[in-house]
Amino acid sequence: GKSAGVSTAGMRRILPPDVVERGRDPFGPPPGLRGGGGPVRPLELLNGATAWLVTGFDEARTVLADARFSADKLRHHDATSLRPPQAQVAERTDGAFVFMDPPEHTRLRRALTGQFTVRRMRQLESRVREIAVEHVEAMRAAGTRADLVPAFALPLPSLVICELLGVDYADRAEFQERTAVGLSASSTPQEQLEARAGLHAFMRRLVSAKRANPADDLLSGLVHDADPPLTDTQLVDVALLLLTAGHETTANMLGLGTFALLEHPDQLAALRAEPGLMDGAVEELLRFLSIIQLGVSRVATEPVTLGGVDLPAGATVVIATPEANRDPRHWPGPGTLDLRRARTPHLAFGHGVHQCLGQQLARIELRIGLGELLSRLPGLRLAVPAEQVPVRDDMLVFGVRSLPVTWS
Ligand code: HEM
Repeated sequence: GKSAGVSTAGMRRILPPDVVERGRDPFGPPPGLRGGGGPVRPLELLNGATAWLVTGFDEARTVLADARFSADKLRHHDATSLRPPQAQVAERTDGAFVFMDPPEHTRLRRALTGQFTVRRMRQLESRVREIAVEHVEAMRAAGTRADLVPAFALPLPSLVICELLGVDYADRAEFQERTAVGLSASSTPQEQLEARAGLHAFMRRLVSAKRANPADDLLSGLVHDADPPLTDTQLVDVALLLLTAGHETTANMLGLGTFALLEHPDQLAALRAEPGLMDGAVEELLRFLSIIQLGVSRVATEPVTLGGVDLPAGATVVIATPEANRDPRHWPGPGTLDLRRARTPHLAFGHGVHQCLGQQLARIELRIGLGELLSRLPGLRLAVPAEQVPVRDDMLVFGVRSLPVTWS
């Protein structure tokens, strides 16, 4: 089946298998990321280049808060990229601010944070609940067995992005189809290219529609309120960034998060008995699962000493989020899923100027999505042995490809 995914093609060709493949424990860091060798260590890439792996929590936060490390991987040649520097520069986009440094980054990010208002988040929260309830009830109406990924985990965040961008109901099927193909690892490169071009054209039409007829959505707000105004090209890039950053991540947290709860029955029982645990549960699942894997990296713009290691200018630094989020200096028994754990900052949403802009919305989706699943599907359990649940460890964002479940 189709599984949405970002920048997947390069991962297996660049990263050695032992830092990518999870082995027997689908929830824990791959063996190659685990302990030993210090918090910063060289990582030989399959393309012959050397990157630096940061597995320590403090060292990771230092990198993400230090302006000597750049997110502009297209300007500073990034060793984890498959493309030659020339091709990378040509691919630079006007609005993809996740790959920009301040002050360029600051202006675009500020335009967007101005739109993530408390009022808008409240409105979205009630839509998230309606969407979640609608999908769980459709599962119930269809029987007592379903694949949670296509039935719930993928459509929920996709429809939330539709709300955010103000996509008309009539266009949502087209939007979801193009997203599925354009971001899918199982599509051919040609199919992906065509679907992405289609998605780009879709966003262009959406931006001009919002220019002509503003509504109460975030994209309309961005089109009309940003000061100085954003160009259409920037707006299209920002809309595509919201889609790629917000869809696959949340979908995989819903799917893998449910799998993790089902595999920890005592924790699941505690959560069912005490719904007040949900906020803590979401934080702990984010830490414990760290689905972003090796997706956060930076390039050193000058020589830097980090964790006692001298990094040369131009070094690519890869944050090993799954391991940094289990740093024993920060969490007692870090390998245990403990929903009652005292709340401590984690790196699942990154850190510093690029820290996830959608984290408030992501938390709403996870809290409400998991809450409605558990309360409306009593006796929810896996419909296959856990070893048969297919994981996606070849993707930038980790998760499950499908999750067959059943309920009473
Ligand atoms: C950035 C994780 C959901 C929008 C990030 C970063 C991480 C992350 C780790 C930092 C990347 C870096 O520093 O290189 C997640 C996870 C999510 C999630 C785990 C779900 C559980 C969302 C949602 C949205 C969103 C729902 C919006 C609808 C963004 C944007 C950025 C970002 C726009 C770039 C921010 C910047 O560069 O200033 N996310 N994210 N994310 N995220 Fe999320």
